[in-house]
Amino acid sequence: MKILLIGDIVGAIGREMIMKYVPILKKEHALDLVIANGENSAHGKGITKKIYDKLLQAGVDVITMGNHTFSKNDIYNFIDEAQSLIRPVNMEPTGYGKSTCIVHVKGKKIAVSNVCGEVFMYNVIDSPFLCMEEILENTQADIHIVDFHGEATSEKIAFTYRFAGEVQVVVGTHTHVQTADERIVKGTAAISDLGMCGAYESVLGRDVNEIVTRFTTNEKTKYTLATGPGIFCGAIVTIDEQTNQATHIERIQIRPKEV
Ligand code: FE2
Repeated sequence: MKILLIGDIVGAIGREMIMKYVPILKKEHALDLVIANGENSAHGKGITKKIYDKLLQAGVDVITMGNHTFSKNDIYNFIDEAQSLIRPVNMEPTGYGKSTCIVHVKGKKIAVSNVCGEVFMYNVIDSPFLCMEEILENTQADIHIVDFHGEATSEKIAFTYRFAGEVQVVVGTHTHVQTADERIVKGTAAISDLGMCGAYESVLGRDVNEIVTRFTTNEKTKYTLATGPGIFCGAIVTIDEQTNQATHIERIQIRPKEV
């Protein structure tokens, strides 16, 4: 079984990358499941119902979120009914949506969960480690997949080792920069960060000049997304259907041709 996991989709260019490359990769790699982080898909912050529907139409099966889950008010209109969207279990506001999604693929019950790291993050109300233990106690599944939305690679790697053998896939999101530390630990495929889908010439998807100005002056800046050719980042995990263990993880990074 092959699963494509995609990093933070940033704005319109990120969405274009999904529309363009998900169908191609699905065909090329005979993918069985596609999971993407959509927390930045609506102009860099949050998601709307329209975008949620478009991402599913493009071939994404499960959309994970993060600290920007509630950045667009539209989320409150559809999160409770959104079967294919999950939000971090340990982040305020609680009481909206769900944090684990069950999908059935090739006769396997797959649980996809979304947790948030505590290091350098806000509104986190509980340990991702304790929350994951609770999810595993309460969720019977053949394969567990986790999107760990967090800033610190150390926290994500520690999480991987804590749950190696219990969870089959741990992928990091949030930093928008793909890490080259993909590994298999006790049948668990892991990478600290998948990277992003968005404008290549940017600072994490945002306008370069605006961010440079922000770092060099006290000038208040808007929230302008960068434009130009996009990058697509993710990873493909192979699961052995006999053992339900991950056997391979391959990073995917498609940069614009002219780079
Ligand atoms: Fe984030």
